[in-house]
Amino acid sequence: MEKLQKALNDAREARENALRHPSIGQAKPSVAPKVNQNDPARAAAPQGRRAVQGSASTQVDARWAELMPYEPNPDHLQRNRILTLNAEPESNPFDVLRTKVFMLMQQNGWKRLAITSPNKACGKTTTACNLAVGLSRQREHRTILFDMDLRRPSISDQLGRRPQHSIKAMLTGEVPPESQMICLRGNVAISMNTAAVPDSTQVLMAGRTTDTLNRIQENFAPDIMIFDLPPMFVADDTRAFLKNVDCALIVARAEHTKSSQLDQCEREVAELTNVLGVVLNDCRHVSREDEYSDSYY
Ligand SMILES: Nc1ncnc2c1ncn2[C@@H]1O[C@H](COP(=O)(O)OP(=O)(O)OP(=O)(O)O)[C@@H](O)[C@H]1O
Ligand SMILES: [Mg+2]
Repeated sequence: MEKLQKALNDAREARENALRHPSIGQAKPSVAPKVNQNDPARAAAPQGRRAVQGSASTQVDARWAELMPYEPNPDHLQRNRILTLNAEPESNPFDVLRTKVFMLMQQNGWKRLAITSPNKACGKTTTACNLAVGLSRQREHRTILFDMDLRRPSISDQLGRRPQHSIKAMLTGEVPPESQMICLRGNVAISMNTAAVPDSTQVLMAGRTTDTLNRIQENFAPDIMIFDLPPMFVADDTRAFLKNVDCALIVARAEHTKSSQLDQCEREVAELTNVLGVVLNDCRHVSREDEYSDSYY
């Protein structure tokens, strides 16, 4: 019970820090940021849509236009706690998170965000989907969301749409991204998975996967790529994949994640990439700021 209380207190402190500081949560002290070495596109790279000039821009537009449209069912999204399709009071916490994440990544020149957690069922997929769906309301930005939880894919269920091809087929180059990804509102591409991939670690570690992601980044010039990953402490898939990203968000769940697990997860993620922050999900604590905003609106 004491441990649980400590975890809650730590989590509460993280959440309050997130409200007070421009970083998202317990962002690690910023020593030299880790560079994603697998991103050859970065040096020469188009920094988003504005930097893509002339005919290159037309080609990028054409690739986005080719993607299969995804028309979400708002009730299905609501049932799955994806609340950011429209600007409503209930989308507000995820909208704040979206803006913080986006601004921090832009400030650092980062484009690839991993979402992981210490243990299972912390809310990674819910967070990833809410960020991506919320970003679809930012018409000037392009986002790509990838279901990289190859063992237990769930974005397809949460969004209520099955892809024609598996993500493995795209990552290994059997199927072009244009045939695999679907597109929400013309500016959020989603690469989902159909079934568990038995050799998931090999796929996530493969040079071919890195090449495919680099090509997608070059060809689609997204402002942000979001990767929904498995928990850190379930197999080694996340460790195998983190070399492909610029930074990671760690999702902890109140009354579910122990503070020792969160500490260990943060340490291990920090060895492999930049820790953008910690999101505390499902927290019932009401801070003074929340009391104020509840009574204000
Ligand atoms: N804040 C919340 N309040 C209530 N239920 C939630 C909340 N966040 C997530 N859930 C529910 O908890 C379950 C797990 O969430 P989700 O799938 O997002 O977690 P996950 O970390 O991706 O899990 P996994 O480790 O299995 O990939 C889902 O049923 C989701 O709808
Ligand atoms: Mg998940």
